[in-house]
Amino acid sequence: MTELTTASAPASAAPAASTAPTAPTAQGSAPAGVTHPKTIKSFVRRAGRTTTGQAKAFEDFGPRFVLPYTPAPLDATAAFGRSAPLVLEIGFGMGEATAHIARVRPDDNFLCCEVHEPGVGALLKRIGEQGLTNIRILQHDAVEVIDHMLPPGVLDGVHIFFPDPWHKKKHNKRRLIQPPLVAKLAARLKPGGYLHCATDWQPYAEQMLQVLSAEPLLQNTADGFTPQPDYRPLTKFENRGLRLGHGVWDVVFVRRN
Ligand SMILES: C[S@@+](CC[C@H](N)C(=O)[O-])C[C@H]1O[C@@H](n2cnc3c(N)ncnc32)[C@H](O)[C@@H]1O
Repeated sequence: MTELTTASAPASAAPAASTAPTAPTAQGSAPAGVTHPKTIKSFVRRAGRTTTGQAKAFEDFGPRFVLPYTPAPLDATAAFGRSAPLVLEIGFGMGEATAHIARVRPDDNFLCCEVHEPGVGALLKRIGEQGLTNIRILQHDAVEVIDHMLPPGVLDGVHIFFPDPWHKKKHNKRRLIQPPLVAKLAARLKPGGYLHCATDWQPYAEQMLQVLSAEPLLQNTADGFTPQPDYRPLTKFENRGLRLGHGVWDVVFVRRN
């Protein structure tokens, strides 16, 4: 299984594979002539226009709610201005579910990662409209955030809702839910903390169940998939899928003691 790595260049920027034979290298280093090891990212930076409303939300709410990415342990109490259970969300898209969950769970702090700029603007707009105070945003690759900002045992929960399914076989390696990342997430959960994933792509749902079940630190809260927990709303995207007859699968695992 390919590990999601943390080097900075997106996969698309990796040098094209050469057909010429390469010199043997020390274990773990790049072949001669390749300047950076190949990096596999779980996202591509999509084009997308930031609307005027989103740009205004960046101005009005960015300074308070967007945290800078710094490769040093996060002081969550300082970042949120209070001490409360900490939930990490990876890939919030336009932030519809994120804002709903922050509203119905005011006693939890939500640290939310997304690389898509219009999505960050959209969530900032919702934060302003709904007067939410318990969200902080990192506009950065969540894998790097996990690696460099989150020490072991700091998280009470992790949300990964409808991660990019990377349908094509040759792209499956970009999926977030793979053993190395799940092991990192499990290590960052407190005992009893939970990992909740949802997808509408059945092969990915099966992969989620298999990978999470194989992680020794995690235990399933259900016998297989679980009914949708009540804090996770049905988003517009999901409703559309359900109308088209698509299924949705949730899995919730907890960290063992
Ligand atoms: C299919 S969308 C789902 C969005 C949202 N969770 C929802 O349910 O509508 C997946 C999102 O994850 C983001 N994403 C993927 N990999 C990421 C990463 N490593 N760090 C931060 N965001 C990521 C993408 O930019 C994209 O917006």
